[in-house]
Formats: sequence, C-alpha cells, structure tokens
Amino acid sequence: MTDWKMSLFSWRTFCCLVLVLHSAHGDVSFSLPEEMKAGSVIGNFAKELGLQPGALSSRKARIDADGGGKRHCDLNAGSGELLVAGRIDREELCGDRASCVVKQEVVLENPLELQRIHLRIQDVNDNAPVFNDHLIGLEIRESASKGARFVIEEAHDADIGQNSVQQYILQNNNHFVVAVSENTIELVLDKELDREQKEEMNLLLTAFDGGSPPKSGTVVIHVTVLDANDNAPVFSRAVYEASLPENSAPGTIVIQVRATDADEGVNGDVTYDFGHVTEDVKKIFSIDRKLGTIAVIGTVDYESSTSFELRVKAKDGLGLSSYAKVIISITDVNDNIPVISIKSLTDPVAEDAPLGTEVGIIHVQDRDSEQNGEVHCSIQQDVPFKLVPSIKNYYSLVTSGQLDRELVSHYNITIGASDQGSPPLSSSKSLGLSVADVNDNPPVFQRESYSAYVSENNKAGSALCRVSARDPDWRQNGTVIYSLLAGAEVNGAPASSYVAVDGDTGEVRAVGSLDYEDLRSFRVHVVARDKGSPPLSSNVSVSVWIRDVNDNSPQILYPAPDGDSSVTELVPKAAQGGSLVSKVIAVDADSGQNARLSYHIVKSTDPGLFTVGLHSGEIRTRRDISESDGMRQNLMVAVKDNGQPPLSATCSVYFLLSDNLSELPPELKDVSSQEREKNSKVTFYLLVALVSVSTFFLTFMVAVLAVSFCRRRKPRLLLDGALAVPGAYLPPNYADVDGTATLRSAYNYDAYLTTGSRTSDFNFVRSYDDDTLPADRTLPKNPVSFGDGLCDSFDPLEVGTNIRSVVDHHSCCTEQ
Ligand SMILES: *[C@@H]1O[C@H](CO)[C@@H](O)[C@H](O)[C@H]1NC(C)=O
Ligand SMILES: *[C@@H]1O[C@H](CO)[C@@H](O)[C@H](O)[C@H]1NC(C)=O
Ligand SMILES: *[C@@H]1O[C@H](CO)[C@@H](O)[C@H](O)[C@H]1NC(C)=O
Repeated sequence: MTDWKMSLFSWRTFCCLVLVLHSAHGDVSFSLPEEMKAGSVIGNFAKELGLQPGALSSRKARIDADGGGKRHCDLNAGSGELLVAGRIDREELCGDRASCVVKQEVVLENPLELQRIHLRIQDVNDNAPVFNDHLIGLEIRESASKGARFVIEEAHDADIGQNSVQQYILQNNNHFVVAVSENTIELVLDKELDREQKEEMNLLLTAFDGGSPPKSGTVVIHVTVLDANDNAPVFSRAVYEASLPENSAPGTIVIQVRATDADEGVNGDVTYDFGHVTEDVKKIFSIDRKLGTIAVIGTVDYESSTSFELRVKAKDGLGLSSYAKVIISITDVNDNIPVISIKSLTDPVAEDAPLGTEVGIIHVQDRDSEQNGEVHCSIQQDVPFKLVPSIKNYYSLVTSGQLDRELVSHYNITIGASDQGSPPLSSSKSLGLSVADVNDNPPVFQRESYSAYVSENNKAGSALCRVSARDPDWRQNGTVIYSLLAGAEVNGAPASSYVAVDGDTGEVRAVGSLDYEDLRSFRVHVVARDKGSPPLSSNVSVSVWIRDVNDNSPQILYPAPDGDSSVTELVPKAAQGGSLVSKVIAVDADSGQNARLSYHIVKSTDPGLFTVGLHSGEIRTRRDISESDGMRQNLMVAVKDNGQPPLSATCSVYFLLSDNLSELPPELKDVSSQEREKNSKVTFYLLVALVSVSTFFLTFMVAVLAVSFCRRRKPRLLLDGALAVPGAYLPPNYADVDGTATLRSAYNYDAYLTTGSRTSDFNFVRSYDDDTLPADRTLPKNPVSFGDGLCDSFDPLEVGTNIRSVVDHHSCCTEQ
C-alpha cells in the first residue's frame, strides 16, 4: 500500500473506531463476514447476555430494526441464536469505510429492556479493481525526454484494506514503466519515443487487489506519438474544499475549479471532468466542462452523506490531464421531523397496576444532527401516564396515577416530540390504551334494606319482593348472583324453608304458605355475589311482614262451646237488675279488627231477663229477678269478630235461678250420680268438697247480703269485677301474644300457679269495663288471700256442676 492510501485508510479507520467505541458501551457485538448465506448462525445472543434460552421467548424478545432501517438478522428465540436474515453486502452498507458496524436492537419485555447488537461486517474480497474507462488515450510528443511522467487515473476496488487495489502491473513494452506515487499512478517514459519508428502503441495496465486469490482489472492505454511539445494543465490547488447546506436547490454552484495550461491555442484549451466518482455522486453533482463549476443537480441529503470527495480532471486539447480533489462538506439543516415509534405496549393494562408500572416503550428518532436532532418528548394531555427517559432516545411510558376502569376504560394518549432546531420541528403520535378490569367493586344493593308485605295464607311460591344490586365491574366481575345468606335461621328453622331467592333476578319468594298467627314477621339476609375470582359480595336484610287475614273464628273459652248443659250458672233469686251473673269469654287468634269481638244474644228463654255486654261479654240481669221467672233460663250467645267477612261462634249459657243447691233439678243430680257410679271413691271426696263449698257459699252469700243491707245500697253481686277462668282453657299460644291480641286488649292476666295439681291453676280475669268495676274497687293482686285458701280445694272442672265461686274479694276483705 502506498503512503497516501495508508494515510487515507488510517483517517477513516480512526473515525470509525471512534464511532464503534462510542456505541459499543454495554452492548453485544458480533463479527461476521459479509455475503453469508441467509440462515447462517452469527452467534448466540442469549449466551452473550447470560440469559437462559427459554427466557427469550417468555420475554417476547424480538429484533427491531433501528429507525425503519433494514433488518439484517433474525433471533431464534428457542435457541437464542442470531441468524443472518438476508444478503449483507458490506460495500452497499458502508462503502469504503474501514469499519462497518450495523446496529440492530432487541426488545425484551417483562421488564422492558432494550439490547443493542452491533454486527461488525468483515470485508470479503468480492470486488475486483475496476478502471473508470476501458481505454485511456494519451498523446505524447516524440520529443518527450526519458523520465517524463503521464498521469493515469487509478483503478477502484469497492473492497477495503488488503482487498482493495494493491498493485499495478504494466504489460512488458519498450518505452514505459508504471510508477505509483503518493497521489497518482503515472506512466514513466523509460526509453524515448520515435514517431517515425512507431506512431502509436497499446499498453495493457492491470490492477491487482491484495485478496487471496487476488482479483484484477485491466485498462488499455492507447499512446499516440505526436510531433510537437506540450504542457499539461495545472490545477490552482491540489485539494478544493467547499461546504454546502443540504437540500440546496438544483443549479446551486458549489465551487469552481481552475486549471491553466501554458500552451496556446488548442493545446491550451482546458476541459474539466470528474475523475473516478461513484454513480451516486454523478446523480448529485455536475461539472461544467468549460468553466469548471461544480453544481448541484440532485438532492443533497446530509442524512445520507455528510461529505463528498470528488476527483476532478483537467484535460487540454491534446489529452494531457491532471487531477485534483474536491471535498464538499454538507451542513445539516433541520429538515427531519422527529419520528415517534412505539416499540412495545402492554395493552390492556390492569386497573390495579401500581404507580410507575411500565406499560410501553417509546422510541423517538430525528435523523438530523446535534441540536436539530435533539428531541424532547412529552404527553400533553391530562392522563395518568408519563414518559420517563431511559436509554438515549427511548422513553418508558409509565403510570403516574391510579387507574380505574369504572371511570375511564380507555385512554387515547398523544405523545408530542419536538427537536431543538430553529425553527423546531415537531410531531405527535396517538396510542390507545385500554384498562383491563379487576374485580374491585363488590355488588351494591340499591337499597339499604328491603321490606316485603304479604297477606297470610299466601300461595306457595308467591313473590315477596325483588332485591337488586349493581356491580360496575366488567362482564363476570360485574355479574351478580343472589342467594340467601347461608346458615341463617328464622324461628329456629333454616331461612330457606321460608323464602327462596332467584339467583338471577333477585326475586324473593315465599317457599310455603305463611301463617300470621304462627309468625308475624321475620328477617332474612340476601347475599349478592359477583362471578369474579375471588368473588366479592355484600348482603342486605329483607324484612317480611305478614298481614293478618281473618282466618280464625272466635274461640269461646267459657262456657264450654259444645253446648254442655252441665255448666250451669247459679243465680240467686235476690239478684237485682244489672247484676253480673256470668261472662262469655272468647278469644280470636287473629289480630286487630279481625280479633275485635262483639257479643250478641241470639236466643233466650226470657228475652227480657239478661243482656250481654257488646264487647265485654258480661251477662247481667236486666231487671230484678222475680218469683214468676222460670227456674231454668238458657241463653245462646253469638261471638262475632270484626273481620271482613266476619267469623262467629255461638255458645249456650245455662242459668239456674235458685238460692239453694238443694233445689238443683234432678238431671243435675243425675249427672252427679253418674259421675259417682264411674268413680265412687272420687265421688265421695267430691261430695265432701261440694258440701263444704256449698256451705261456704251460702255462708258467704248471707254475709254479702248482710253487708249490702248494711250499706243501704243495692248490692252489686257475684262476679263483680273478678272471674276465675281455669288456666287449662287458654290455648298455649295466647299467653305470649302482644297487645293486638284479643285477650290482652280486653283483660290482664294474672296467673296464679300453685305447686301441685294442674287442676288448681286459675287465671284471674279482671274486667276493664269501668261501669262494672269502679276504680276504687279493683281486685288486689295478692294471690295468697284468695288462691291459697280457695283454689286447692276447688276444681270446677271435676265437680261436674260448675259452681261459680262468687267472690267480691274487695268487699270480702273489708268485711273481714
Ligand atoms: C385519539 O386522539 C387523536 C387526537 O386527539 C384523534 O385523532 C384520534 O382519532 C383519537 N382516537 C380515538 C380512538 O379516539
Ligand atoms: C375480572 O377480574 C380479574 C381480577 O380480579 C381479572 O383477572 C379478570 O380478567 C377480570 N375479568 C374480566 C372479564 O375483565
Ligand atoms: C353482611 O354485611 C355486613 C355489612 O353490610 C358485613 O359486616 C357482614 O360481614 C356481611 N355478612 C356476610 C356473611 O357476608
């Protein structure tokens, strides 16, 4: 290699080395010869990075050609090998640069990462030296002396280094040798010419490169021997330098070269032309043959080429020529807008992505240099995303706020980029990003609680109410199914035996017929659960209120409703008008108006003798009893509730108008004797009891009468305000009913329970009717004074004839 070539290569090598060192930091590089077959293995990328080969496919590794450039290699994600993708021609990629490095990028996800691959393309001797022309014409005077030099244009080899032109060999001849010097190749006259001897000759010049095997190219030098002497043109400078802004309009003059020739006339006419220049250069520049002006004829693009080196030739009329070099430096103009490309995007992004989650990687490229290529990227909108600069020209798109799909399910993000040129250029790019649902909303009931009203005796399966819950999540995460809260109980039974919930519609239905008298209200919880995994749920209470229906007839507790005439009231003949002689006690299991009872006499032996209190059921004499009244009186009393329609029951009350038990009619005695026959032993005791009670009764009556006479008042006798009802008559569920029930509204119960026999249980009923019981004559609630003494030895049920114990306790006590 000649000295000038050395210096040229070392300069280029230096530039390229600087480039390589600059970009090689932290990157993976491979060397490969050009022109490898597609599919050939370049190297193992995974191994270079220290990654498991499987990691590449799981991290979606892929080659990304830089800035829309050509892709030169493929990545086998399975093996981690890098393969040749297509023809790699070093000369096409790098021209005559000493070092040819092609950059490729590999994008890895999770985490997002960018790896640069540097492919160092090694030169292969695939190009032969080529001369610009096939024939070079030289006109040389016969007077030219030995040692005269004639410049020949050199051959060009697209390969570099050792593979470029290394040697010139001139075919053996008598007159010339070839000399390769710093700048040029010259024919040197070795032996003087003689036109008379030989007028013209052809010399074959062969250029060899240094490859193995070497390649060669030839040119024929046609020498014509002339008569007269001449001077070759001389350029004013060996190297011309000019600078040209890119995009200069066609016709722009770049520089003018000048050569002078000392000769006159035709011999001094200098014409200009390009020496060896590439076809590309010929498309961009032209040279004026006469003036030597170099003008722009094509597109000058700084980004394609930052400088041009042209060889220019000046030739005089006789064909003597000389060469000079023109270096045109192109200056950058801000003519490229930044190009934003999305290298990777995680779409959709989960709405629960934590702050700072990387969702994409953005690359921005501006092909201009320096300030003109310095780009700033930003998001102009108010979105919960931001750009974080990462590797040069790369930005991570990360979340900068909490996402909520239920508020915003899709983002249209516009990324703007602008460079620092003046004026600056900018561009923008929109990208759509969806937010994926996460089951983060439990179903919410539309009401805090639900109430359902249903009349009792409803049909099984009738609808009670409908609950509804909303869940704003997406698809199954927002699909609500309803169910009863597991394990809930109503009245000790599973809630599911009362109500059922339709899973899809939320309709709450009664499983069976409901009975107000059994259950007035109950509460169940309905759960709304979405179909997410894990599911979210919430629950709501549903109160079911059962409405009463008049479905229970009044129930007569006293007297026995079956018309048993053995229950006979004993009315003293001395009883005066208005005396309380008996009382019909009835209850109704319904409530409210359905249980509001009224009493009516339907039939009576003597219509004028008794009245019944409309609501109290108290039977009183209407007038004083006279001797003419029959001894036996019957009443049929109807008890009616106030429902719609009303229900009723009737009972008969038998009265015996007598002052003396001995006046008992024979049938009553018969009943006693039948009883006696059944159980003579018991009868004996009963008789004893009966006699003692009768005695007591009579004694008591006398006392009462005496008192009433003493007070000179009309005595209000008998059941004045107090009645004893055997506890066994009361249905068990009446004891705990609340204020709406019949008994409670009409009476207060005081239950006196003595230990021992069931038959001694009494419920004492006190009338609320003001007219029968003045406030100052209420019954003391002291059981001892009454129950202990009386009840143990007295059982109206077993006596057979119900002898009312006629007690005005108050007056009794005051008398004693
Ligand atoms: C996103 O926004 C850009 C600019 O604002 C608009 O041109 C584009 O149509 C929008 N895309 C969608 C899907 O809304
Ligand atoms: C529901 O939410 C879960 C996370 O909770 C998510 O993985 C799933 O994709 C969501 N389903 C739909 C249909 O969005
Ligand atoms: C029902 O909801 C309440 C709050 O509304 C909650 O505290 C309770 O844990 C829920 N019960 C069930 C079994 O989900």
